[in-house]
Amino acid sequence: MNNNEKDQIIIDIEPISRRVKINSLNKTLYELLIDIDVRIRSECQGRGTCGKCKLKVENGDYYLNSPTNSELKLLNKNELENGYRLACQTKIIENIRQKDHSISQSNMKIYLPENLLLEEFQILTSGIGKGVNLNPSMIKIFLKIPKALFNNQTADVERIFQEISKIRTDIYLELDIDYELLKIIPELLKNQNSELTVTIRNKKRIINLEPRNQVIENYGIAIDIGTTTLVGYLINLNDKKIYAIDSKLNPQTQYGEDVISRISFIKDNKNGLEILNSLIIKQINKIIFNVCKKANIHQNHINEATIVGNSIMHHIFLGLNPTQIGISPYTPILQKSINIKAKELKLNIFQNGNIHILPLIAGFVGADTMGLILSSKIYEEETLTLAIDIGTNGEIVIGNKDVLAVGSCAAGSALEGAHIKHGMRAAEGAIDSVKINPENLELSYTTIKNKKPIGICGSGLIDVIAEMLKVKILTQSGLFNKKMINNKDFIINGNEIEYIIVNEKDTLLKSPITLSINDIRQIQMAKAAFYSGVKIMIKNMYESFNINTLNIEKILLAGAFGNYINKDNAKFIGMIPDINTNNIFQIGNAAGIGAQYSLLDINVRKEENELLKKIRYIEIANDKTFQREYAEAMYFPHINLNIFKSLKEYQNIPKR
Ligand code: FES
Repeated sequence: MNNNEKDQIIIDIEPISRRVKINSLNKTLYELLIDIDVRIRSECQGRGTCGKCKLKVENGDYYLNSPTNSELKLLNKNELENGYRLACQTKIIENIRQKDHSISQSNMKIYLPENLLLEEFQILTSGIGKGVNLNPSMIKIFLKIPKALFNNQTADVERIFQEISKIRTDIYLELDIDYELLKIIPELLKNQNSELTVTIRNKKRIINLEPRNQVIENYGIAIDIGTTTLVGYLINLNDKKIYAIDSKLNPQTQYGEDVISRISFIKDNKNGLEILNSLIIKQINKIIFNVCKKANIHQNHINEATIVGNSIMHHIFLGLNPTQIGISPYTPILQKSINIKAKELKLNIFQNGNIHILPLIAGFVGADTMGLILSSKIYEEETLTLAIDIGTNGEIVIGNKDVLAVGSCAAGSALEGAHIKHGMRAAEGAIDSVKINPENLELSYTTIKNKKPIGICGSGLIDVIAEMLKVKILTQSGLFNKKMINNKDFIINGNEIEYIIVNEKDTLLKSPITLSINDIRQIQMAKAAFYSGVKIMIKNMYESFNINTLNIEKILLAGAFGNYINKDNAKFIGMIPDINTNNIFQIGNAAGIGAQYSLLDINVRKEENELLKKIRYIEIANDKTFQREYAEAMYFPHINLNIFKSLKEYQNIPKR
């Protein structure tokens, strides 16, 4: 055993039978588990407020800090006596052997209760777009290059250019070549009719020369960087086919669940930006490694990556400080699309390959929304269409072939389970749909992967509220109907009455899964943000942009949450406008599809920057009617209410 090994603490993690050896102190168990890719429940992202990261230290608690104030508040006496700790509060602070040299091996054992483990988050990878042509920026051409002759002394590079021009007449005149390739040309062209594969970017520049025919190995990867999740799509640029998909949690969540807390982390820590940037690059490189393994290809054969993400993720990925986006006037450092060599950003694809980052639309409306616009082609619609990407930051796009506007609303993270007592992300064991029988008021539910319930995710929350409204357990203002409160369906918890969704005996928890008035309030705030946001945008478009209709005829719901919600219930609680359900479409990971389109068709990239000129950004929160609209939208419509009826007044406003 060398000195280094002697200093290690060995931690056995059960029931997953993982053993890790660590040298560094001052790491929380929460950070350690994220480092080794073990996914656990956490709704406050390690801030010590949700109490959901409970685990048991079975051996070796002498390495750890004493319980913090958060733990003393969130764990009961019995749990504390039995070794329960909050992973995010528990730090490894001391190697016992520094005190006691008789201990030859440092061992610690922790146990992760089953309801803590989240094997697989339900990360949405699929989506529906309008289709795209195959016209990638990266093309590969196979050539046979004749040797130079005494009577034809054309230089090597020029002979390569000449052969290319015989195959692609559109390329030769503009062609250029990366400097370092010049050095390998003599070796590649040493034979008569040497076989060569040339990779050309944008019809302008040779970026790679390979021996033999390797035309088939031409791949690209489209990457969607979400605040919570990352998805990568490996695509063959010769045939448009997706060869592999991989998704992971965004490891930055350990430093804050939303973009504002990531900005704060960067502001408050000298190396904050470097830490978050390196976490995202490392995680994307893991995705690249995984898709290559799945498709059995070499990473060097990925010639290009396209990237979408919200403005903060975009800046952090590029290593740019995003703090000024968080302060008025919310200006990003860069808006237009940009192309950067892979080696400069340390992405593990072909090092001279290209990274194309899609443009931002405005401070808080990022390249992910551009992806949504490109994939849905909302700018080609005949009728007024609304597209919503429902996440922590809700993006709203309204448009047709004549007009296109975007806005952003702070929906909060309640729909992702945060700040809801039994809320959780869409993962195994989450209640994802609910029904209440109007005859006997019995509640039935489904869970993801049919596992025993451990919490409720966004789609389940919308359902339970809609169902409670339908059977009148809940009032229009979001209070429990006093006449319906009974011992069977409600419990009293301290000063609060809570509605029981699942009884304790049917869960993996030690308590029933319930819904409190505070939980309902959080959902009201989220749905009010969308509802009022759409209303204010339409009003602004009517007043300022000369549109001749107030009627939205089609709705596109993008993003993971939008993909799983019950459309009728979302209308019923007044979250989205009340139009015919047949005209509401769930389009999945539209941002990711947009990144794919940008990878596959060079013309889409021209469109990206052209669209920037057309898109109008509406500052929803600055509208003078915002507070009133938001407060009104907090109410639940008890009948299906078409919000546009209340906008009739605007139809009489003379157009400018
Ligand atoms: S209390 Fe630890 S993650 Fe929330």
